[in-house]
Amino acid sequence: MISADLQHKCALVTGGASGIGLATAEMLARNGARVAINDLPGSVKLDEEVSRLQAEGLHVYAAPADMSNTADVDRMVAEAVDVLGGLHILVNNAATPGTRNSISAADLERQDDAFWQQLLGVNLVGPFRCIRAAQPYLSRDGGAVVNVASTAAFGGGGSSTTYASCKGGLVTMTRELAKGLGPDIRVNAIAPGWVKMSGWDCSWDEAEAEEAALKLPLQRIGEPQDYAEAIFYLCVAGHYITGQTLIVDGGLMAGG
Ligand SMILES: NC(=O)c1ccc[n+]([C@@H]2O[C@H](COP(=O)([O-])OP(=O)(O)OC[C@H]3O[C@@H](n4cnc5c(N)ncnc54)[C@H](O)[C@@H]3O)[C@@H](O)[C@H]2O)c1
Repeated sequence: MISADLQHKCALVTGGASGIGLATAEMLARNGARVAINDLPGSVKLDEEVSRLQAEGLHVYAAPADMSNTADVDRMVAEAVDVLGGLHILVNNAATPGTRNSISAADLERQDDAFWQQLLGVNLVGPFRCIRAAQPYLSRDGGAVVNVASTAAFGGGGSSTTYASCKGGLVTMTRELAKGLGPDIRVNAIAPGWVKMSGWDCSWDEAEAEEAALKLPLQRIGEPQDYAEAIFYLCVAGHYITGQTLIVDGGLMAGG
């Protein structure tokens, strides 16, 4: 596990009540950072996880907001910066598949306008909204943004065409904003493959998934910590890297 001295660093992680976001927030906090953890307003899990980490003496704070709502995001970012005392790291992790079961690429009917609006609002405009709100506060001295995309952006399969398109847009946005925010702030992304215990796709049987994973070059499904480590690297090291999307997938996209 890589580590860094993040005392005096402040971070905001969206969608951090579970999975990759929680693992990332925890890793940043365990390395000394003060971390605002966002998730949906009313999330019991967010309060539980923040209490658990605070009880360990870590400097974490709940920052509830719906990433699909501009006013809510603007308020949340300003409040988080106030509580943290600054902002060096932003991890745009919050997203939704919008469905409990994968929608086949041939099934256009299930992907109606309302579905597109919902996913675009959270998964694509959400990260932009958050970066726009955070930009005035982000440190000019080593500020870093990491967006969480997906291998779905590169044809790796995802919950729907809509979802994959949002993630493809996020990869492009990462490149564009690297130009817009450089040289002071780096903007990168990771593209996760399969995530253990995600529970996003209920049609995915755990045993079947484990068997399928044996066909991956690294022969296992990624844990949230595997993804957190890649995000952590892009946040605190990789000082000459910007505009890139790092595929983290156990070799899924390498084929086999
Ligand atoms: N699970 C997978 O198979 C998979 C694969 C590739 C990429 N990803 C990406 O990884 C990231 C994290 O996913 P995860 O697997 O850890 O899932 P997760 O469900 O554990 O975490 C996502 C979090 O985002 C929150 N969230 C959803 N909508 C929100 C909103 N409008 N405002 C604020 N918070 C909101 C959820 O409440 C949840 O806590 C996402 O960006 C996802 O697209 C996931």
